[in-house]
Amino acid sequence: MKVLGIETSCDESGVALYDTDQGLRAHALHSQAALHREYGGVVPELASRDHIRRVLPLTRQVLAQADCPLEALDGIAYTAGPGLAGALLAGASVACGLARALGIPAIGVHHLEGHLLSPMLATPTPRFPFVALLVSGGHTQLMEVSGIGQYRLLGETVDDAAGEAFDKTAKLLGLGYPGGPALARLAERGVSGRFRLPRPMLGSGDFNFSFSGLKTAALLLAREHGADEAARADIARAFEEAVVEVLVEKSTAAMLATGLGQLVVAGGVGANRRLREALTQRARETGFEVFYPPIELCTDNGAMIAFAGAMRLARGVPRTGYGYTVLPRWD
Ligand code: KG4
Ligand code: ZN
Repeated sequence: MKVLGIETSCDESGVALYDTDQGLRAHALHSQAALHREYGGVVPELASRDHIRRVLPLTRQVLAQADCPLEALDGIAYTAGPGLAGALLAGASVACGLARALGIPAIGVHHLEGHLLSPMLATPTPRFPFVALLVSGGHTQLMEVSGIGQYRLLGETVDDAAGEAFDKTAKLLGLGYPGGPALARLAERGVSGRFRLPRPMLGSGDFNFSFSGLKTAALLLAREHGADEAARADIARAFEEAVVEVLVEKSTAAMLATGLGQLVVAGGVGANRRLREALTQRARETGFEVFYPPIELCTDNGAMIAFAGAMRLARGVPRTGYGYTVLPRWD
């Protein structure tokens, strides 16, 4: 079964072709980072317009790369939410229009389900059931995953998402957009232990997170020492270490509580090198396996949407016609 996936929920246009027999056949991505940089964040109207410009050329590129004619597709998956309404509509209209013209199913996919399943695009591949740590710009969740569509929320952030905290802290340290990778680069030059930031909710006894206080604590340090370049790097280092420690401890607790043997990490913050190293080490010590998506599939992309759509199609999605709606907020 060949499924095209279209992702346009935020500031990346992603298109990919997933084949249930042959795996990921091709994927292409256009990042709008340069477009939004001068505004310090994503401008929704600019994002929608750029998706409209990019989606069809990316689709042609992917089909050509995979040497797959449009008519050979069995379904078209698109991100139906959550995300920016106009951006989502750009992808949904192309997907549903093409699907209607071809007479094949259009499959609306939950963006987070895409992230959640993305480690299954890597080898070695995790097997159900597993625990997923989902750490993106909009969400921080621990989830017990028993199968496609069978997700039990163990805990989540009560305020900012981990990626959002990275982005906001990067901004107050004077770093550009997107902030997470920039902060991680600055932290590489920082000294560990010069500043110590709190570990919010570390001992809360549940699987919930809180990151907004950490960002405020970083702000106070930045006000006091931020004029000094070396101190800024040390603050970045302290911030990254605090986030990583909380994520590692809570994930370990979730592994022990569920008794499961596999942890899957997904979402943009999953690209963070220090997080990967700390989790891999903890997994070794504690005796569980940890799986990551390929680095380029950690942040938003079409491959995860094509994959989630193919999994749903293979299980027989109910036909809903080609009328569509997007869900900017979707639980
Ligand atoms: O999953 P994603 O692409 O988009 C959402 O669905 O939110 O995640 C983007 C988030 C941003 O907050 C970005 O700063 C963060 O992931 N991020 C990182 C790194 N790469 C991306 N955060 C920390 N370290 C990184 N290397
Ligand atoms: Zn995402």
